[in-house]
Amino acid sequence: MKKINIAIDGPSAAGKSTIADVLAERLGYTHLDTGAMYRAVALNAIRKQIPLDDEEAIVNMIREMKLEMSADGKVILEDEDVSDAIRANEISMGASDVSKLQGCRAALVEMQQKICEGGGYILDGRDIGTVVLKDAPVKIYMVASAEARAERRVKQNLEKGIEADYETILEDIKKRDYQDMHREHSPLTKAEDAIEIDTSDMGIQEVADAVMEIVNRVLGE
Ligand code: DC
Repeated sequence: MKKINIAIDGPSAAGKSTIADVLAERLGYTHLDTGAMYRAVALNAIRKQIPLDDEEAIVNMIREMKLEMSADGKVILEDEDVSDAIRANEISMGASDVSKLQGCRAALVEMQQKICEGGGYILDGRDIGTVVLKDAPVKIYMVASAEARAERRVKQNLEKGIEADYETILEDIKKRDYQDMHREHSPLTKAEDAIEIDTSDMGIQEVADAVMEIVNRVLGE
């Protein structure tokens, strides 16, 4: 069967990554978490003490940086597995900061397009349906209330043994929503041809089933 690319966008903690993992498993596709790439850039910049608003320095750093996105979802930065390190709260905000820089976006978009050029990828992020995969035959825009998202993130973090305070996480989510939706370059918006799913009151399998129905319809065409 032909392999398509699938675009999933939406605000932070709407469940994009979890759903992309489930879909990848069901379809035998690979999940590329593009947010993790912005996070890796932020982590590397913070480690190198590069100011997160210094576009030229960040772009130069990206050019030299060794970043591998493994098919099993691991993020390898300079040969080190940073999959957990990039999930810290400070890095979430840092990723949102570097993602404002047009030069940073251009470099990462190019990497993402190259990775999935053969098809069979599910990309989740903020600009997948609008920029990275403008022609994707399946575009999903996932939303959920800020409160539902904060609750999920608290649970997720606690499971991973990461500190989690509901109020702090809720504030962070609201702040990042605002920042991601109001930035100058590629702000988070729903692509015209994307299908919106509100996951506030839906379970993981329920959302995955809804998306699978859309995918199967497209694959059957
Ligand atoms: O999905 P996430 O929370 O891991 O993303 C971290 C940050 O990266 C988020 O605040 C916005 C940014 N981002 C982006 O601008 N474009 C993407 N395709 C993915 C993430």
